[in-house]
Amino acid sequence: MAPESLKTLRPLDFAWGRIPSFRRGIRQAQGFYPERSRRIKKGILITFEGPEGCGKSTHAKLLYDYLKARHAPVRTREPGGTKFGEKIRSVLLHSKGMDISVLAELFLFEACRAQLVKEVIVPALADKRIVICDRFSDATTAYQGYGGGIPLKQIEQLNEMATRRLNPDLTILLDVDVVTGLRRARAKGADRMEKKEVSYHKRLRAGYLKLSRENPDRIKIIEVEKDIAKTQKLVRREVMSVIQRYIRAR
Ligand code: TMP
Repeated sequence: MAPESLKTLRPLDFAWGRIPSFRRGIRQAQGFYPERSRRIKKGILITFEGPEGCGKSTHAKLLYDYLKARHAPVRTREPGGTKFGEKIRSVLLHSKGMDISVLAELFLFEACRAQLVKEVIVPALADKRIVICDRFSDATTAYQGYGGGIPLKQIEQLNEMATRRLNPDLTILLDVDVVTGLRRARAKGADRMEKKEVSYHKRLRAGYLKLSRENPDRIKIIEVEKDIAKTQKLVRREVMSVIQRYIRAR
């Protein structure tokens, strides 16, 4: 059940452009043509990032629900999102009694990404869909780079290979204090990454913040508020301003 406060979020809180005509509304309902393919000029990749416990999966889902009727977005995640990726995800996050090196970890995350990009993201973008991805290449820079100490140049090269140089149109960086976020995440039972020491998580958070300073047009920081609806409003504002850029003028 959605928290009470979420009920205050209405689809018309943000400008969608013109309201479709009655006739078009009927034709869409009949499945003649989906609004998305007519109006959006190109596929749009939106990624969610942030330290543990920042609530990105919740916000990615809320955004998906918000865009669903009009834009038929695709929601996916990393690591995972494909049959292969989900298998590797469980190795990466839930292996017990295995000492997976930072380098091995890096290759596994990149392997998942390469598969997801080929199987899901590229075809969806080619179909002019909006893709909402829960983590993407910035996560590797933040976690394995800033957190794990792998040289950033090497990560950049692998990211370029795995993503085929695909860059998100927008990255929402949900920022939360490391101790608060970890407490929240670990309350559900910590996975292998969440079990890493606090100093690792502090480094990766600082890395995310640095990435956003270096890419201010793409990475938008949103401070996570206790009130989910307030945070989601800020998320939607950023997303809508990007979508508006790619909507055909009529
Ligand atoms: P999440 O679904 O809770 O975000 O779990 C994914 C975990 O994997 C999270 O701890 C971040 C970590 N991760 C990396 O370390 N590197 C990566 O490239 C990606 C995509 C995730």
